[in-house]
Amino acid sequence: TRLPGLLRSMPKAELHMHIEGSLEPEMIFRLAERNGVKLAYASVEALREAYAFTDLQSFLDIYYAGASVLLTQQDFYDMARAYLDRAVADNVVRAEMFFDPQTHTERGVAMATVIEGLHRACVDAEREQGISAALILCFLRHLPEEAALQTLEDALPFRDRFIGVGLDSSEVGHPPEKFARVFARARDLGLHLVAHAGEEGPPAYIWSALDVLGVERIDHGVQAVHDPDLMDRLARDRIALTVCPLSNEKLCVFPTLADHNIQRLLDAGLAATVNSDDPAYFGGYMNTNFTRLFEQVPGLTAQHAYQLAFNSIEASFAAVADKQRWQ
Ligand code: HPA
Ligand code: ZN
Repeated sequence: TRLPGLLRSMPKAELHMHIEGSLEPEMIFRLAERNGVKLAYASVEALREAYAFTDLQSFLDIYYAGASVLLTQQDFYDMARAYLDRAVADNVVRAEMFFDPQTHTERGVAMATVIEGLHRACVDAEREQGISAALILCFLRHLPEEAALQTLEDALPFRDRFIGVGLDSSEVGHPPEKFARVFARARDLGLHLVAHAGEEGPPAYIWSALDVLGVERIDHGVQAVHDPDLMDRLARDRIALTVCPLSNEKLCVFPTLADHNIQRLLDAGLAATVNSDDPAYFGGYMNTNFTRLFEQVPGLTAQHAYQLAFNSIEASFAAVADKQRWQ
């Protein structure tokens, strides 16, 4: 590994991780047993062997199956505390965690169960470990906009327990503009706005996330390199891209990690960041994403490492005083 000490020790923010994607196979089996949920896999090893993905959809099918073991407030709490422990170990000082309420409410789990469990984990981790943690509610883009609107209304009793909304799940065929009304409503509520765009989808989806939804950050965004005008726009407006190297490798967005375009993004002046996306499924948490990326991409230097850490704190939705303390 190149620059391992620096990469591990620098204070950083994680801005793109799905809390349901932090469920390790061992915890999936433990929760399945605790809740009497039947799994389609016989063992931890058999489940792990199924983690061989060819694209985003092949991952999502297994990811939603894994989340089916989450039933009680304690389950959501335990999952989030386990992730925040790993984040603290990687010198993550700020974590903004996505959660997918529709994955749970569709199975009959109450919105209160999901949000209160996750929120209590954030509060306890902040108090006991000093990490700053916040929640971003994501809409599933393969479902209709009406379902997203209903989800936002259902979450309003807990408005003070999440800082923003995002858009995730199957990208191609579900462009951002499909969710124009629900993002306008979220904006009126004073919520931060982000969306997955340009992971597998075209640059046009990044444009409409910016210009129709009005998002403040783009999740993934690596397909922007195919559109020079878009690259200029992202650089000029310092729109952060929350890039996920190991996710891109595992979902075959790039042939190998060595082919990743993050250096091109940084050298073009874009505010790229490094994130783990779904760490239990893609082979590692924050520092593994950093160290494997810097191992594989030969042109990356200590200057790039500082820039990535700086960008992550700058692009976070933390209070200005906290950002100054971390930088
Ligand atoms: N893309 C879209 N949806 C997701 C992802 C992702 O990388 N991870 C979890 N849900
Ligand atoms: Zn993601």
